[in-house]
Amino acid sequence: MCGIVGYVGNNDAYPILINGLKRLEYRGYDSAGVALVGDGCTLNVYKTKGKVADLEAHASGKPLGGSTGIAHTRWATHGEPNEANAHPHVSQSGNIAIVHNGIIENYATLRSQLSAKGYQFKSSTDTEVLAQLIDYFNTALDLPLLQAVQAALRRVIGAYAIAVVDSRAPRRIIAARKSSPLVVGIGNEGDFYLASDASPIIEYTDRMVYLNDGEIAILPAGGEMEIVNLDNKPVELNVTRVEMNISQLEKGGFPHFMLKEIFEQPDCLNDCMRGRVNAQGQPLALSSLRFHSKRMLNASRYIIVACGTSWHAGLIGKQLLENFAQVPTSIEYASEFRYRNPVINPSDVVIAISQSGETADTLAAVELAREKGAFIYGICNSVGSSIPRNTDTGCYIHVGPEIGVASTKAFTGQVTVLAMLALSLGMARGTLSHDEARQAVSQLTRIPGIIKETLERINPQVEQLAKMLTYARNVIYLGRGYNYPVALEGALKLKEISYIHAEGYPAAEMKHGPIALVDEDMPVVVIATRNAMYDKVRSNVQEIKARRGRVIAITTQGDTAMGDLADECIALPEVPEYLEPLITTIPLQLLAYHVAVCKGKDVDHPRNLAKSVTVE
Ligand code: F6R
Repeated sequence: MCGIVGYVGNNDAYPILINGLKRLEYRGYDSAGVALVGDGCTLNVYKTKGKVADLEAHASGKPLGGSTGIAHTRWATHGEPNEANAHPHVSQSGNIAIVHNGIIENYATLRSQLSAKGYQFKSSTDTEVLAQLIDYFNTALDLPLLQAVQAALRRVIGAYAIAVVDSRAPRRIIAARKSSPLVVGIGNEGDFYLASDASPIIEYTDRMVYLNDGEIAILPAGGEMEIVNLDNKPVELNVTRVEMNISQLEKGGFPHFMLKEIFEQPDCLNDCMRGRVNAQGQPLALSSLRFHSKRMLNASRYIIVACGTSWHAGLIGKQLLENFAQVPTSIEYASEFRYRNPVINPSDVVIAISQSGETADTLAAVELAREKGAFIYGICNSVGSSIPRNTDTGCYIHVGPEIGVASTKAFTGQVTVLAMLALSLGMARGTLSHDEARQAVSQLTRIPGIIKETLERINPQVEQLAKMLTYARNVIYLGRGYNYPVALEGALKLKEISYIHAEGYPAAEMKHGPIALVDEDMPVVVIATRNAMYDKVRSNVQEIKARRGRVIAITTQGDTAMGDLADECIALPEVPEYLEPLITTIPLQLLAYHVAVCKGKDVDHPRNLAKSVTVE
């Protein structure tokens, strides 16, 4: 939530900052702003409500020079989205500008203390308080800027990734992190780039330093980067080479990132399985298991923690792990888990699932599990992000950067990794024979091709169908077994991008209450594929039809019986039941997408949402 970019070096900062903000817009788009420091100690700040394009229009024709700058795209936490609350915030002396991602929890106390010292505030944000606090130590107490930043951060409770510029020292940025992500790119000839993730930096350099909590980076143009902690002790620099394909950050001819990412899934899942299936003479070889097999195999229990779509993947993971590895597995919302007093034993393995690797609640759940001595396994997409750096081992899903705010390819990537994990553990624990594993893997490797064929075949049909759903006010999604989490995921996709109220239920739960909602105006999307649950789900469909509900059924090709019963059918190829979520989710992703497009919604930037939820 909120994206930060910074640049200090030999080039004009403005275009680098604007391009960087566009890459980070998925993190929030309530307002955008930029602060440019020129060699003549000028500080120009431009900010506006709305998106980066609005900022460009606002700044057009104004002085945009300066080879040092910081910029911000906001997801509002404190204060409504307007120009006054947009970052960067400038301190009272007019010298210091700051951008911030996170939440300063004790901002109200700090604000009243600073007000008593004569500081006046122009915004209702927590960030402006931090700007004034740094200013207070710098101007009133005469501390050099670095010490002023350290003193201010020692008084702050909360989460932050900040970048600070000072018009009196125009060739330097100071940046710090606690619980919100920040990465520094080391360019050529003393250029430094700074961002909330690597995507705005990668076109300039692949040499990155991921800051850890409590670290402060000093970036002097033309000089050497230094890292110190809050007590000014030097910290060793750990430079990582980051690989990222820039074309993955573009729409590649698709009208929206979401559609591109839906269509990318066949390639993504091949990438996810590459080197892991049919490798080293084995059906499956996960390096995370090779090096940590004892902890993983001897676990008395797996506890999956995640949020949102990743939690839905976790629900499927629970079934896969229990089915193949026969280890009791529970699944928890990370946000709930962290605030109760869960029973966690050192013999437990906690599996954290997160696309961004930065979700604050999931990260906190990981920390809690670590304190209690559990072994932590991460399933993440964003390479080098906080969760993989805080887990004992794990498996990247390798589906490439996901830019569309509604998660699609990350979900199928997570389910693919969970399937590989469950099959590997099953083999190693002896609950699954090598032959069974080999067959399952051969089915898994067919999935990308099946998705590709399915996407091309059903997309025009789903586009037509979406027109019917445009006027719906509520939609129910039903599924059973492995497809129950898919129903939840389908409903979430529809709500978040088309703003139509949707609920997912296990199909058999209908008769325990929700069926009261069904009438001729209620569309019901039912996943009714030919599997062990088929007859039961068919009865559920009959119950809905008896109450004149409109049924859109996701069926198995060749199933004419369901065709006679449902109002609309989207037919899918048959795959083993445990792999069905990878296929049944495809029409639901497309349906949500096309309904949102029909309704004229901003698919990639749904209202009130941000992709990386780094606040509680
Ligand atoms: C929904 C969506 C969110 C995320 C959730 C967790 O489309 O994207 O529900 O799944 O915020 O995010 P990660 O996976 O980054 O931890």
